[in-house]
Amino acid sequence: MTTTAPAIHRGLAGVVVDTTEISTVVQETNSLTYRGYPVQDLAARRSFEEVAHLLWYGELPDAAQLHDFRARERALRPLDRTTLELLARLPETCHPMDVLRTAVSFFGAEDPTEDDGSPAANRAKSLTLLAKLPTVVAADQRRRRGLTPIPPDPSLGYAENFFHMCFGSVPDPDVVRCFEISLVLYAEHSFNASTFTARVVTSTLSDLYSAVTAAIGALKGPLHGGANEAVMHMLLEIEDPQRAETWLDEALASKRKIMGFGHRVYKNGDSRVPLMQAALDRLVARSADPEATRLATLLAALRHTMITRKGIHPNLDYPAGLAYHLMGFDTPTFTPIFVMSRITGWTAHITEQLTHNALIRPLAAYAGPARRAVPGPA
Ligand code: ACO
Repeated sequence: MTTTAPAIHRGLAGVVVDTTEISTVVQETNSLTYRGYPVQDLAARRSFEEVAHLLWYGELPDAAQLHDFRARERALRPLDRTTLELLARLPETCHPMDVLRTAVSFFGAEDPTEDDGSPAANRAKSLTLLAKLPTVVAADQRRRRGLTPIPPDPSLGYAENFFHMCFGSVPDPDVVRCFEISLVLYAEHSFNASTFTARVVTSTLSDLYSAVTAAIGALKGPLHGGANEAVMHMLLEIEDPQRAETWLDEALASKRKIMGFGHRVYKNGDSRVPLMQAALDRLVARSADPEATRLATLLAALRHTMITRKGIHPNLDYPAGLAYHLMGFDTPTFTPIFVMSRITGWTAHITEQLTHNALIRPLAAYAGPARRAVPGPA
């Protein structure tokens, strides 16, 4: 009897594993929608808090709902003494993503309702994480700079408060707006690797903190969220825009992956890039530092050469990395900022997974040794 070899979908490329009502990429129009709204319009017209509400509850908030949502988020921002002590104990050699992963795991260990997976309990946990993660990220960046944490300011919006906790001041509204645009664009992207990780963990009926901790681990890698940091390292390595072409040729010849380029879903350009690129251009234009223009020129040269040579387009991490650099954030803080935003998408998916849960457990085609007898003891 002959058996047909099963089709292998390495990396689950092209496999549709479930339905979702949260977001979709429309290939024909190269656009991304959250709950039906084009992300570009959301980023241009709505705050990050409104988008978080949309992802979690399915609708944009009205004025009263937004007021309530903001009040609850602001009240949850401070960290207690035990958490601050824990963060201070972590070695400075560990990556800030390790700090975030540890913090979320610790929040889970401290929460007596950790195992209550009801929608109401999960929404409360999601809001707590949304509120506290920026406080962790800011305190960690300051610690690495030898500075003490700055407590959150409940009179400030989500984005403004983050700048305040990092630097002790809030930049002008243009810069805050560019940052907020990046948060909206990063918030959600269907079944990407980290979201799928969160759904896999959730599908076993494990708790929300475990799912988010695992998702942070998945996002950390340079093929996913870690690419925004890797782009910055690449720019600093090349340094001179004149070297862009030769550097790229050598890198491609040695089969090196160019960070910030390519995407599993978008093959003709990431729909989020034009808006983020425009935000970056505004940051460069308002900067008096010639370094900003030099790095932006280098970024443009690499992009041009990569599209010409390989037909591979930049993804969101490409403009976002330099934008965060120009805003004053340390490079290792870039991916944690991605977490501060994507926590909204992850937790929306965790809730959705539980509404129609099926254990996620694919098959594998066995490629090891044929069945054999265990030899006697040596
Ligand atoms: N640099 C060089 N070559 C590339 C790149 C790149 N960045 N991206 C794709 N390619 C090439 C591959 O080498 C491959 O060529 P081949 O067919 O000759 O072997 C071809 O394009 C297809 O690439 P795959 O890696 O098979 O595509 P896949 O869909 O699996 O990968 C990925 C997508 C992982 C994002 C890839 O493009 C990559 O590694 N990019 C760099 C990392 C990065 O920027 N990640 C951020 C993703 S977006 C986000 O997380 C917000």
